[in-house]
Amino acid sequence: MYNGNVLKIGIFGANCSSGRSATKVPERWSASWPECLQLARMADAAGIDFMLPIGRWKGYGGDTDFHGTTLETVTWAAGLLAATQHMTVFGTVHAPLFNPIIAAKEFVTADHIGEGRFGLNLVAGWNEGEFEMFGVKQRDHEARYVFAQEWIDTVKRAWSEPGEFDVDGEFLKLTRVRAEPKPYGHTRPIIMNAGSSKTGQAFALRNCDAFFTATAASRTSLQGTADKVTAVKSEARGLGRDIEVYTVGQVVCRPTHQAAADYYRHAVIENADWGAVDGMLALKDITPQTVGAEEYAAKRRYFAANAIGGYPFVGTPDAVAEELANISTAGVRGIAVSFVNYLDELPYFCTEVLPRLQRRGLRETA
Ligand SMILES: Cc1cc2nc3c(=O)[nH]c(=O)nc-3n(C[C@H](O)[C@H](O)[C@H](O)COP(=O)(O)O)c2cc1C
Repeated sequence: MYNGNVLKIGIFGANCSSGRSATKVPERWSASWPECLQLARMADAAGIDFMLPIGRWKGYGGDTDFHGTTLETVTWAAGLLAATQHMTVFGTVHAPLFNPIIAAKEFVTADHIGEGRFGLNLVAGWNEGEFEMFGVKQRDHEARYVFAQEWIDTVKRAWSEPGEFDVDGEFLKLTRVRAEPKPYGHTRPIIMNAGSSKTGQAFALRNCDAFFTATAASRTSLQGTADKVTAVKSEARGLGRDIEVYTVGQVVCRPTHQAAADYYRHAVIENADWGAVDGMLALKDITPQTVGAEEYAAKRRYFAANAIGGYPFVGTPDAVAEELANISTAGVRGIAVSFVNYLDELPYFCTEVLPRLQRRGLRETA
């Protein structure tokens, strides 16, 4: 991610079955290791900047058990880093589920394998159904981020402090900690977070290099996007920090607008795994009982079409490149994209969209 690309492009969610599309289409993503490996090599050769996995432990149900099959992200990253040369590969870690010293060492190991290309997506956790299977009780929202602060401070100390140190926090009590080696090349891994609450965002601004927000890509309000980016960056500057804003989106790119729109409707709406969508909404306490039947139907459709995969970039290479250029103009530093089937669809994106972005001065190479 430390290159001259004005707009960084990454791949989001490839470690999870069905990626970012709760769909029943037979070509949906399997997330098998051989496919992830092939995808990473293809993406690396094409100049894609990063791969961002989802830390997910349990499927959402439905006919496909959406996200029922997932590869653990740090070991996944280590394997992909060994097989690639340029891109950053993130591990996504739920702070409450990992001992910070073991985690810090895993990150350092992956970082050495990738010669400085490991990245950390730190999540505080939101899905209690996942936590109970570890026997871990999720803390209330504010305490989650207090714990995450102690956790990341400890990881950073393990990455940087020579000799021994103790941690005497509210949650963590660690004695005579030693952690060698340090991250590769006297740097530290890039850290991102995607908290959407005020507390989550404040955490990201204090601790991270990259702040991911699902709401930044929007055709309807580029000014809103620009305002959000400006606000985040200036708040960070007030803390003496520089932070970059990233977003996420799903791409369906085809030679004609009609073909793209048809496939998007076919995969994401007509063949949606509605049982999985209902499962995800129920986790957010959105049910026909809590919001009423009519509002529920609207939310369900919106969620399947826009929320799971993020903003849809659907259209010809010209149209997709134009929309990506727009979010760059609004100040967004990069985007993590998903495809219904990453391996089938990435080559067309790379051969058609990346050169268009290069011609606009947004990418160094196509
Ligand atoms: C790009 C992006 C990636 C995320 N990745 C994960 C993830 O892998 N696992 C997870 O449990 N939550 C993930 N989240 C959820 C956030 O970390 C966060 O918990 C959520 O946005 C709720 O925000 P809050 O904690 O501030 O309330 C992600 C969110 C976004 C926008």
